[in-house]
Amino acid sequence: MEYENIRVETRGRVALITLHRPAQLNALCGPLIAELNAALDGFERDEGIGCIILTGSEKAFAAGADIPEMRDRTHPEFFVADPFGEWDRVGRRRKPMIAAVAGYALGGGCELAMMCDFILAADTAKFGQPEIKLGVIPGAGGTQRLTRAVGKAKAMELCLTGRLMAAAEAERAGLVARIVPAADLLAEAWQTAETIASMSLPAVMVAKDCVDRAFETTLAEGVRYERGLFYGLFATADQKEGMAAFLEKRKPNFEHR
Ligand code: HXC
Repeated sequence: MEYENIRVETRGRVALITLHRPAQLNALCGPLIAELNAALDGFERDEGIGCIILTGSEKAFAAGADIPEMRDRTHPEFFVADPFGEWDRVGRRRKPMIAAVAGYALGGGCELAMMCDFILAADTAKFGQPEIKLGVIPGAGGTQRLTRAVGKAKAMELCLTGRLMAAAEAERAGLVARIVPAADLLAEAWQTAETIASMSLPAVMVAKDCVDRAFETTLAEGVRYERGLFYGLFATADQKEGMAAFLEKRKPNFEHR
């Protein structure tokens, strides 16, 4: 399928989606989000895909929602069309998604990165929620996901001042999983994604679901939820294969079922 605002590539069981609106620093317009969802719909259906990487350019992962597109919107238009509902679909994917972030991840760009399961950051990455400078607030989960990731003090400061946070600070604060030199970002992302995609897909999807559940429920409920799904994995062929391979001192040959 031909896309205008993204580029898509697959290698083995990994898919790479590259945001591609270079003249606008990958500002996230409606058509881009629609294309992103179309690509993700396909990868979710494709049994041959086990992990998805989302990246931007060296200069910008994404500089936010598209400001010219938003500028003249009215309340009833927003309310009826609910364009950010489409963004939610990105964050509700069941297969693992890694954000590989270099340069600016601002506003909706930071929110999009936070919808992924974890962020690998280049040492050039800069994160922020500068919407306040435009007279608005984050609208695609930023006030919620950033607060859960970095805690109230830093999230509040960033949302109220619009200050940007460099990669090192973002890592210290727990927003990013790991920082790598910018030149190595994509190679690291591919390698990490290949590692994940080589695991049993049902186990990976269950692990993702359980970690996400930690943000939605109480500790006791979450522990019960995890235990049920752990037991459930004993219905998979991959559990038998994984444990047999360990005991036979060989590599497992997962069939993702
Ligand atoms: C549309 C954008 C854009 C955006 C940058 N551009 N950000 N276009 N929407 N969010 C465009 C610029 O207009 C410019 O186009 C080109 O990209 C290059 O940007 P410059 O500003 O010239 O680059 P630079 O001086 O390097 O500054 C980079 C920057 C700055 C610091 C990232 O562009 C910036 O502050 N952008 C806005 C960041 C922001 O406020 N994001 C939040 C948006 S609101 P021309 O044609 O002039 O060359 C939001 C709400 C989310 O995200 C709600 C939920 C979805």
